[in-house]
Amino acid sequence: ASSLISLRSSSSSGLSEFVDAKIELQDIYQDLDKFISSLMITVEGSNLLDEAEEQQQMEQLRCFSSKVQAIEKVMSRDRMKVAFFGRTSNGKSAVINALLHDRILPSAMGHTTSCFCLVQATADEEDPEHVRVEQENLHLELGALKELASAHSPRAMKPSTLLHVNMPRSRCRLLDYDVVLLDTPGVDVTAQLDDCLDRYCMDADVFILVLNAESTISRVEQQFFKDVASKLSRPNLFILNNRWDMASSQEPEMELQVRDQHIERCLKLLIEDLGVYSTVEQARRRIYHVSALEALQLRNGCNQNPTVPTQERYLEFQRFETDFSNCLAHSALKTKFEQHLLSALDILAQLEATLIGPLTSKLGQLLKETGEEANKLYAEINDQGLRVVQRKEELEDQVEKLCEEAQAMGQQVLR
Ligand code: GTP
Ligand code: MG
Repeated sequence: ASSLISLRSSSSSGLSEFVDAKIELQDIYQDLDKFISSLMITVEGSNLLDEAEEQQQMEQLRCFSSKVQAIEKVMSRDRMKVAFFGRTSNGKSAVINALLHDRILPSAMGHTTSCFCLVQATADEEDPEHVRVEQENLHLELGALKELASAHSPRAMKPSTLLHVNMPRSRCRLLDYDVVLLDTPGVDVTAQLDDCLDRYCMDADVFILVLNAESTISRVEQQFFKDVASKLSRPNLFILNNRWDMASSQEPEMELQVRDQHIERCLKLLIEDLGVYSTVEQARRRIYHVSALEALQLRNGCNQNPTVPTQERYLEFQRFETDFSNCLAHSALKTKFEQHLLSALDILAQLEATLIGPLTSKLGQLLKETGEEANKLYAEINDQGLRVVQRKEELEDQVEKLCEEAQAMGQQVLR
């Protein structure tokens, strides 16, 4: 019966491009770092400059060096972030668990998720699986989530807390590709969400609204996304009409009408109310009807014999997974790496103009007077100058390539 479905995660080529670009960029910055260090040695040992000039140049080089190291740090933390929102019990935590192929986050009837939970791969190889409360250095077992993040437990954290749920990269494809998933408490039960939104959510590359397909989008959910859209220019938004298994099995004769009603209201939200998409075609591709519970059961082996409707809903879940992955990578490449590439280019251009250029011309003059020793130095600095120009050209090519890839990926997503 399972011929229709593949239980593996859907393909996520866009995500690997993000990771490849990150490695490439880290490489560029390491080169840049080494290059600045070697320039410092050259300037310090050359005796070419008078003391004031030398100090000035060294100061500038130190400034570039710390800038490069700061960007390297930011880059190592760059990840693709996706945040899930919706009314309580719509299945936000269930969707994340399905993406993780395992019941990691508390998911139950009633008001469950009590605080913000950020699921991510950890770099800590000694302690790859643990829960940490933001700002506290306490590492707890993954099992502690049941207590800390569930409103049904007396030890539940208050809504404004951020819990880091750290897992080994090998746990699932998304985590391995540097994706982080943010689970949130229901928008209808959490007071003062605004502050947490700014702190934990506004840097998300993609937002996912999880609705309950048994009812319809509520005013609270609408208002919430209006707030998000007013803070961000055209956020990437996906809408999951979840619990579609329940909705469509209860009144099968109504299934088409209900689906049409959902689509019509979601389109109105995306196009008219929020203005995040301009055409019906674009917005339509961001609306899905799924069952997170069924997807999780299929993935963790609890349903060996899915019915045809279950398989169809699972295909739709996989389609959602592929689409949002590509959108995520596209958005993260653009917002994060393009800027880093431009900064590297900028540093190289400044080095060329303020240091390499003047040093080379100075050496050219000295060459006439001092002969061999200067000749050697001249060659050395000229060589470094050439490397700067070469690296700059490479970088320019890479920026161009990256922009093309991002554009191609964007078109793929919208196709
Ligand atoms: P809060 O954390 O309270 O905001 O809720 P939530 O949006 O995270 O919902 P949660 O994942 O806790 O799911 C609520 C209940 O609905 C749980 O009992 C889930 O097992 C169930 N559920 C979630 N998704 C589906 C689905 O697609 N189909 C069905 N039948 N049940 C689902
Ligand atoms: Mg939840």
